[in-house]
Amino acid sequence: MTESIKVPKGLERVIVDQTSISSTDSKGHLIYRGYSATDLAAHASFEQTAYLLINGKLPSSAQLTEFSKRLKEMSNLTTQQEALAEFIGTTYPDNPIIDNLRTVISGIKLESKDESSQLLEMAAKIPGIISKLYYGSAQSPAKGGAQSGYAATFYRMITGKSDISLSKHFEKLLILYMEHEFNASTFALRVTASTLAGPKPSFTSALATLKGPLHGGANSEILNYLLSVKSRDEAIKYVDSKLAKKEKIMGFGHRVYKDKDPRAEFVKGQIREVAKRNGMEKLLEFAEAIEERMWESKRIPANVDFYAAIYLYMLGIKEPFYLPIFAAARSFGWNAHYKEQVADNKLIRPDSEYIGPKNLKFGHDKA
Ligand code: COA
Repeated sequence: MTESIKVPKGLERVIVDQTSISSTDSKGHLIYRGYSATDLAAHASFEQTAYLLINGKLPSSAQLTEFSKRLKEMSNLTTQQEALAEFIGTTYPDNPIIDNLRTVISGIKLESKDESSQLLEMAAKIPGIISKLYYGSAQSPAKGGAQSGYAATFYRMITGKSDISLSKHFEKLLILYMEHEFNASTFALRVTASTLAGPKPSFTSALATLKGPLHGGANSEILNYLLSVKSRDEAIKYVDSKLAKKEKIMGFGHRVYKDKDPRAEFVKGQIREVAKRNGMEKLLEFAEAIEERMWESKRIPANVDFYAAIYLYMLGIKEPFYLPIFAAARSFGWNAHYKEQVADNKLIRPDSEYIGPKNLKFGHDKA
């Protein structure tokens, strides 16, 4: 009999498979297919990065044109898809959008036939579905102009505004959210993909897993608090009192990044630019006070979600969209991981160590 291998709880620091899509390390590096993710956020477009992640190399100019066109065409919802999103949105108006998005994704009839196209179709449609779920038929998603790309169209769909500068900032965050190796939602996707359940169930698993506050759900929790802060001192006291009560502060800590999260650093730099433009420097000052205090007290760095929430707020985006935006961007990473998993598949099915009672005899237990 083969011996089982005991690994740390939560699979912490356990390498469960190989990937050529992205890599992270504790020092704060995030690499997409060999390129620094923050360099891509600074210089590449959303479409270039999505193509890179899915196909393994940057597109030529002709490939980029073709991919962008395909993405745009696929983003249009069919009548059935639109009706389903509207039905779910109006039937469960109080549900978080992420829950309704998961329901819609598990129920939509995809137009594409092959798996690769189905994966891209789901990713392409998430912005339209989100917008439909939130606004219903009252304000149907603004259709993208002929020249606008994924990020600008997405920005317009959720804010109703066409602002080139703000949507460029939005694009940078989308790029940073796109991929993060074996994070919990991607791993859930790969587990489902490994059973050969297909793209839709795999996306549904990933969306369900992304929701939790220890994963994607962290990005809006801190914002409400930050908006109520009146001074630096108050922000510092907040950290002290949370830590004294042994409570976690959302937007801090990471399973891999122990010194710094490179995405948080990058986003903070961008926020500085936007904050100057719209006079929100105080918000950034209080956020930095919290970050400094957390580092002094616990040596725990801010993660991307801490600054992403502030960034999205400064870009004029409503809080209910924060987690769905994360899902929309990450769905392109899920595209790549699904393909990588099924291309060299092995059922993901770990073992467990049984610690419950043994040798009980049915009918002999005392009541
Ligand atoms: N606030 C306060 N303390 C925190 C913390 C936080 N956000 N994150 C971790 N810690 C502390 C834990 O309390 C624990 O302390 P202890 O050793 O004294 O008990 C230690 O750091 C290790 O934390 P743990 O939760 O075991 O690490 P992990 O690798 O399993 O978890 C996270 C990583 C992301 C789940 C965790 O940092 C967290 O819950 N953060 C808040 C949620 C969040 O922002 N999620 C988004 C991630 S991108």
